[in-house]
Amino acid sequence: MISTANGSLEIQLNGKKLRINDSPPTTTLLEYLRQHGYVGTKEGCGDGDCGACTVVVVGQGADGKAHYQAMNSCLIPLGSLADREVITVEGIANGKLHPVQSAMIATGGSQCGYCTPGFIMSMFAGYYDGKVDDISIEGNLCRCTGYLPIREAAQRVTNAKADDDFSQKLAIAAPELLAFSYQDDNYQFYRPTSLNEVLSLLQDHSDATFIAGGTDLGLELSHHRREFPVLISLEAVHELKIFNITDEWLEIGAGVPLSQIEERSRGIFPSMDEMIHWFAARQIRNRATLGGNIAVGSPIGDLPPVLLSLDAQLKIAGQNGTRMIALADFFHGYRQTDLQKGEVIVSVHIPRTLPSGTVTRLSQSYKIGKRGTDDISIVAAAFCIDLDSAKKVVQARLAYGGVAAIPIRAKNVEEMLVGQPWNTVVIQQAKAALKETFTPLSDFRGSAEYRKSLIANLFEKFFVEFGGIETYPLEVK
Ligand SMILES: Cc1cc2nc3c(=O)[nH]c(=O)nc-3n(C[C@H](O)[C@H](O)[C@H](O)COP(=O)(O)OP(=O)(O)OC[C@H]3O[C@@H](n4cnc5c(N)ncnc54)[C@H](O)[C@@H]3O)c2cc1C
Ligand code: FES
Ligand code: FES
Repeated sequence: MISTANGSLEIQLNGKKLRINDSPPTTTLLEYLRQHGYVGTKEGCGDGDCGACTVVVVGQGADGKAHYQAMNSCLIPLGSLADREVITVEGIANGKLHPVQSAMIATGGSQCGYCTPGFIMSMFAGYYDGKVDDISIEGNLCRCTGYLPIREAAQRVTNAKADDDFSQKLAIAAPELLAFSYQDDNYQFYRPTSLNEVLSLLQDHSDATFIAGGTDLGLELSHHRREFPVLISLEAVHELKIFNITDEWLEIGAGVPLSQIEERSRGIFPSMDEMIHWFAARQIRNRATLGGNIAVGSPIGDLPPVLLSLDAQLKIAGQNGTRMIALADFFHGYRQTDLQKGEVIVSVHIPRTLPSGTVTRLSQSYKIGKRGTDDISIVAAAFCIDLDSAKKVVQARLAYGGVAAIPIRAKNVEEMLVGQPWNTVVIQQAKAALKETFTPLSDFRGSAEYRKSLIANLFEKFFVEFGGIETYPLEVK
């Protein structure tokens, strides 16, 4: 490991090496930037929701090449950025305005200007990927200009053939995340590159906290000002970055960011494609990992229902070796999981084989929130139904988030469906049973009654979309 025991760490900021020796590694990048005069990067919410703090970090994309990736600086601790290259809004006008800045001016995309640097940085990242669209800016909020001129600016620069110093930088091989460690009297931050190193660090620091993308933990740092004396970053651990596809399994490393999974697994599991699309926003997906989404054990995490419906298993490593556990057995209670002290989720295994007798698999997921993107689920649902040649149910898995203390399957209804024909009568019976299966809570997002309706109606929606109408041709979806 590159060891920095003298109280400093280095990042590349706007092309220049910056030695940080006056801020602990738990300081968020946003805090650091604003304290050091880089005030173009704005603070809005401080919790990943508004995009005002968006910066760009050079990172590896799904194609293995270097990309500019938009991220929320309010959620990233400095330690996670050791030796990485960061670009802020101050760094993009190279003697003249950057094309995305010119486009914003031309369309009148800025009024008070508070959100503008964040939009500019999201568009900047998209510009070098050849696509500046609604998805590029879905994690940025504007409260006064209105989105039409901003979207028009995005349209003006989309598909542009970027050919400048920034694009040339990307031609260089994708940066490999190096090992890094930092210790001072109050804080220790480790970024190991192998699972063995993680486990040996845990032997010495049994109270250490893992950080992966930091999109959950970052809130504790920024919003709640919680202290973490020992952080172990999982970002560079090779075993957690794997992505293996075989005929039997898709194995995804727990540390792979969602934006990579979005690209690499597209077309394999439609329900996963759909849910990742609606997961937070681009800046969050560039950081958030599957392992983090599972480990937090939140009842409203969006990917656990999908993974439950696909019967996923987890590979977990600890001092006594590795073990596999079905995700269905992993959640014990509200934010309580089977993960023991000193254990780390290594990967998620999703089976690809169908049960015998299956000729058609129907599978999809649904997320109901108050907003289309960048919102938390009121209810999330994921269904997987296997049918035989007579359109009878061979196997059923109905999984939900937001309806109980844990992400959960409706096992009673699943059992009820097996052996039944896939038709309207059976679906109506299942709907009635689903309404009685869970006792969701009422909160400011939705009442218990509303949630109960969603539990049943989403299943009917799935039925109608996937073979419910008698004349609808059944095919593998
Ligand atoms: C603005 C915003 C929008 C969001 N939108 C959504 C959304 O639409 N849907 C949704 O489900 N979630 C959402 N989230 C929550 C969050 O993004 C996800 O839960 C994300 O997947 C967490 O992953 P991470 O890598 O950032 O986890 P981190 O924050 O790094 O870690 C979270 C927790 O998991 C532990 N951990 C991480 N990796 C491992 C591992 N491999 N083994 C053991 N423990 C581990 C950490 O110690 C920590 O306790 C949102 C968050 C924000 C800030
Ligand atoms: S300040 Fe709102 S996303 Fe960071
Ligand atoms: S220009 Fe004022 S918030 Fe967007």
